[in-house]
Amino acid sequence: MNKVRAAITAVSAWFPDYILTNEELSRMVDTNNEWIMTRCGISERRILKGEGVGTSDMGANAVKELLRKRNISPDEIDLLICSTVTPDMLFPATANIICDKVGIKNAFSYDVNASCSGFIYALITGSKFVESGTHKKVIVVGSDKMSSITDYTDRATCILFGDGAAAVLLEPSDEGDGIMDSILKTDGSGRVHLHMKAGGSILPPSHETVDQRLHFIYQEGQPVFKFAVTLMADVSAEIMEKNNLKSEDIAWLVPHQANIRIIEATSRRMGLPAEKVMLNIHKYGNTTSATIPSCLAQWENKLKKGDNLILAAFGGGFTWGSIYLKWAYNS
Ligand code: UT7
Repeated sequence: MNKVRAAITAVSAWFPDYILTNEELSRMVDTNNEWIMTRCGISERRILKGEGVGTSDMGANAVKELLRKRNISPDEIDLLICSTVTPDMLFPATANIICDKVGIKNAFSYDVNASCSGFIYALITGSKFVESGTHKKVIVVGSDKMSSITDYTDRATCILFGDGAAAVLLEPSDEGDGIMDSILKTDGSGRVHLHMKAGGSILPPSHETVDQRLHFIYQEGQPVFKFAVTLMADVSAEIMEKNNLKSEDIAWLVPHQANIRIIEATSRRMGLPAEKVMLNIHKYGNTTSATIPSCLAQWENKLKKGDNLILAAFGGGFTWGSIYLKWAYNS
């Protein structure tokens, strides 16, 4: 009998309706469609509007859709992990709030924060509970309301980010598919290039921190770009080598969607043609935790049981990594 692995058995995504176009951004800051398209590959992104709504609302919508698609009740879920850098509040965990909003009562739940690599960190964390046999139905949801921490006076960052959520269900499989391998890495010294300065224990919120606009994403684009291009490509090549995979063995690359140029560098290094790369950055920008699972949801109809997928991400921390999985179902 095959080893029991954690397999993705359902996927869903949810995006807010409001579309923030490059044209609208060019009326807010000194930018233009041509610059954003050629430097980043983004033409629009979604923004969650309205008072009193946050990351948990988007996550709950994605999870409800997941349960509907898989035709299971909230009572059957054993564990829910939410990847986010924009929690509803510092505590309790957004995962707890999602469970409450969805009616999940028999699970334990917590958040994972690994910036743009959060979803793959959370997916591997969740997979261990399934592989060990202690938990049978585990939801991993990536949800981020990036607009809540984006400075719409900073042209170098406000063009990049959007809001959205997506979720996957993990269940045990002994059919030789599911999550086969992963390489996850961290280098905390990279934090100087990408972080939020205030609002945590080092610099709690105050009138001064608000006046100095310290509650937004701080990013030094060029160094982050340099590390991302190299490390995301390296780790993707490394997981291929480790598992003896040639480019022709890979059906899809599912990359974190931060910048089209980072994605192209990764696919080039892996020897993959553009047709094998999932891309939704032009429509949604960088939704942080939701990029990879939302690609899976949007490509679900094209995925076939046994397809080899490489998931790859790079983000603040620095954090980065790749996952090799065999798709487990035909839709
Ligand atoms: O997912 C989390 C990890 N994050 C990332 O992976 C992001 C990595 N970084 C990047 O994707 C890129 O560095 C950016 C998209 C953020 C910036 O692109 P870049 O090619 O690195 O541009 P740059 O920062 O080197 O700026 C080039 C020029 C500058 O003008 P000068 O100094 O040459 O006159 C910027 O001021 O472009 C200017 N610029 C803009 N111009 C028009 C910066 N932002 C804009 C803008 N519109 N929105």
